[in-house]
Amino acid sequence: MNDPAPEIVVCADLETCVERAARRIVSAASTAIGARGRFAIALAGGSTPEPLYESLGDSPGRDALDWSRVEVFWGDERCVPPDHPDSNYRMARAALLDAVPIPPERIHRIRGEEPDPEYAADLYERELHRELSSSPRDTPRLDLVLLGLGTDGHTASLFPESEALEEKDRLVAAVKASTPTLQPPVVERVTLTPPAINAADEVLFLVAGEEKAPAVEAVLEGPREPRRWPAQAIDPGPGRLAWLVDAGAARSLSDLHAPEGREP
Ligand code: 6PG
Repeated sequence: MNDPAPEIVVCADLETCVERAARRIVSAASTAIGARGRFAIALAGGSTPEPLYESLGDSPGRDALDWSRVEVFWGDERCVPPDHPDSNYRMARAALLDAVPIPPERIHRIRGEEPDPEYAADLYERELHRELSSSPRDTPRLDLVLLGLGTDGHTASLFPESEALEEKDRLVAAVKASTPTLQPPVVERVTLTPPAINAADEVLFLVAGEEKAPAVEAVLEGPREPRRWPAQAIDPGPGRLAWLVDAGAARSLSDLHAPEGREP
């Protein structure tokens, strides 16, 4: 998939993945804050990251981070209001943001409630530039992008055969995807595009569950076909991509790494 291959850490269970992800995020944050005075993270949606967000919102994670210097973004959002049960913002707000002292102006949600998702995408692209670019020509650089993986190989809201996978310039796109793996089967989303994600200093996939094993194998060990397996379009460059995968999701990988257990 990538050359060189991404770092793959197989954890015994989701709890161990969460523990390692939290440590990586705290480490990335202290590096970024030390170097640039701020840590810009894009959160993933879905259900897998929720225990990670709860962990970061509880000690020691909460106390290890200077939240006044953290800028929170999202990798994607559903086209729903911020208080809708499907909202990625709502989940992160409940699991993390309400538990930490982050200034409200440092929370940059995607406006899923906008009647025109294209307008919401345009607004978000402008916000990324305003907050993360030193000049209009520079690509905004997030410090860390957290991603999940769907059973169909989608990540963020980059779905198979999506035109957003071909984006070379736009950083944020509105997408309409029809896929049997989602409920409802036709979804409207706003998503970061590969150029926005691949500009990040670090990209971290967090994947758990046996149902993800075929997609994990196809993405990491199958032939390169990103239109079929969109997570293959994520390639930030050498040493900047890592996968934290639990044993169930890793079970189809050929050279299965010995699952790492929880810290004693
Ligand atoms: C979303 C996410 C999406 C998610 C995968 C995995 O908005 O749903 O951005 O890409 O990460 O669908 O979802 P689960 O973690 O719920 O399996």
